[in-house]
Amino acid sequence: MVILIAAIAENNCIGRGGKLPWHIPEDLKRFKELTTGKTVLMGRKTFESIIGYLGKPLPNRKNIVITRQPNYKYGGHSNLAFAGEESPVEIYPNIESALEARKNEDVFVIGGAEIYRQTLPLADKLFITEVQEQAEGDAYFPEIDKGAWKEVSRENHKTFSFIEYAQKKKG
Ligand SMILES: NC(=O)c1ccc[n+]([C@@H]2O[C@H](COP(=O)([O-])OP(=O)(O)OC[C@H]3O[C@@H](n4cnc5c(N)ncnc54)[C@H](OP(=O)(O)O)[C@@H]3O)[C@@H](O)[C@H]2O)c1
Repeated sequence: MVILIAAIAENNCIGRGGKLPWHIPEDLKRFKELTTGKTVLMGRKTFESIIGYLGKPLPNRKNIVITRQPNYKYGGHSNLAFAGEESPVEIYPNIESALEARKNEDVFVIGGAEIYRQTLPLADKLFITEVQEQAEGDAYFPEIDKGAWKEVSRENHKTFSFIEYAQKKKG
């Protein structure tokens, strides 16, 4: 199953200057709960953003990074330098080959904008945090076509809501 997980402002903004436009600890906690032990797939820019925040790839998850750069190395590290039991990293040259390699397991697509745009049509499920603000930024989530997606759960909080969508045609 392909599952997109994203925090999105009312104007669809998801990022600013390579970072999140907000700090919502409850959202980070939910992200951790949903993705720990799973495979997470991300674009090269989101990967570098995570390295900027954490100094390492997401721990206790299999990290898949998509880049067109052959022999991609981050900050002079070889890919193998990241390969540890806690946060293994695999690099793929495109989304299709990564999803094909993981077709028998759940893959959580964790951004950013470029990767969400290409994977939304392939997704089975969306875990969206709707952030109740008009954020300024430079990265946007694609429009969620409410004709194609049905809301299956919603948890409202004061300044954000956790919403789960399932793709209608996939039941
Ligand atoms: N709010 C949220 O939930 C959330 C979640 C994640 C990220 N974000 C934000 O989103 C922003 C980053 O998004 P972004 O769109 O700029 O970058 P991105 O999607 O994270 O990464 C884009 C890069 O991925 C690679 N790529 C994309 N499509 C590819 C394909 N089909 N084949 C091979 N490689 C491909 C390319 O890497 P190369 O250039 O190396 O070839 C491209 O430059 C940041 O501000 C981040 O904080 C927000």
